[in-house]
Amino acid sequence: MPFAFPTLIALLTLLLPTVISKPLQTPETLYTFPTSATGPTFLENIAVRADNSLLLTTLSSATIYTYNPETPHVAPFVLATFPPPLNGVTGIAEYAPDMFAVAVGTWNVSAQRATGLEIWRVDLSRSGGGDKIGAETRMVVRVPEARALNGITAVPGQKGRVLVAESYGGVVYAVDMRRGTYEVAISSACLAAGDRLGVNGIHVSGSYAYFVNSFGGFFGRVAIHANGTARGDVEKLVGFEVGPMSVWDDFATDGKGVFWIASHPNTVVKVGKGRDGWVSEVVAETGDKGDIGPTSVAFGRGRRQNLLYVVSGDGRVQRLNTREV
Ligand SMILES: *[C@@H]1O[C@H](CO)[C@@H](O)[C@H](O)[C@H]1NC(C)=O
Ligand SMILES: *[C@@H]1O[C@H](CO)[C@@H](O)[C@H](O)[C@H]1NC(C)=O
Repeated sequence: MPFAFPTLIALLTLLLPTVISKPLQTPETLYTFPTSATGPTFLENIAVRADNSLLLTTLSSATIYTYNPETPHVAPFVLATFPPPLNGVTGIAEYAPDMFAVAVGTWNVSAQRATGLEIWRVDLSRSGGGDKIGAETRMVVRVPEARALNGITAVPGQKGRVLVAESYGGVVYAVDMRRGTYEVAISSACLAAGDRLGVNGIHVSGSYAYFVNSFGGFFGRVAIHANGTARGDVEKLVGFEVGPMSVWDDFATDGKGVFWIASHPNTVVKVGKGRDGWVSEVVAETGDKGDIGPTSVAFGRGRRQNLLYVVSGDGRVQRLNTREV
């Protein structure tokens, strides 16, 4: 029905509610990683320690960096590396005080898939701050059937249990960081991948696991049992337009029911429940060049909980004051 199309578009435009947005904020760039011969440092994920220093993972090498946003000009330094053939790190989540679960693998970034994926423990609990920092790393479990381990989130109240999104297979695993075991916790056609990654960022908030499905073009949630396994069906909360360069990636929750999402190619989007249901709003423009875009965001802690840190595939670490949004 090609001729009906313009009429339908016109009709939809009339039906859309008017969204009056504030001017877009521009996050402040704190630091840019140097570009090497192989390209920019592809920052993938962030964890914020209790002292508000940042742990940054990258797909450009099997490295975790630590960076202190309070001294922005001091270059990040290498906190941990993983042995070859491992070459990239994706999700990171704190599952016990200063104990982090990370996903490491041998990545083909252009193909958006990996082999030899493993979950490692990075233990900073016996480490000092600043330049006294030292990490103890240990491989916890191999996930041989996985092809794209991505976002990781701790399951609150379950010691040592994390959920890990598998963006290629379209499942979420629960990993027991103490016993070194895993099983499928959430399995649904709604998590599936297509010509791009499926379930991507994931975070537990209240009794739900919230997630982005990049291929599916929506932000959704699923009710979970205390142990992190699905207790109901996936709910699609809000959709987004998937374009050649545009897709939602990882996100953070402010704990008040608002979710802040890194959106390629160059924005941060806020999602929350309005009077008439779930809505999304673009709140910041990150200034990325090209097609990479912000990959992940994370909130500061304590006195810094209004600050949202943003990392990008072009190696930038930025800071957005969410009180000004
Ligand atoms: C990565 O994947 C692409 C596309 O599938 C393929 O052409 C390329 O050979 C792969 N690179 C490596 C190093 O395996
Ligand atoms: C998780 O909890 C649910 C509900 O109590 C239970 O049915 C299920 O067997 C548990 N799964 C695992 C892997 O512990």
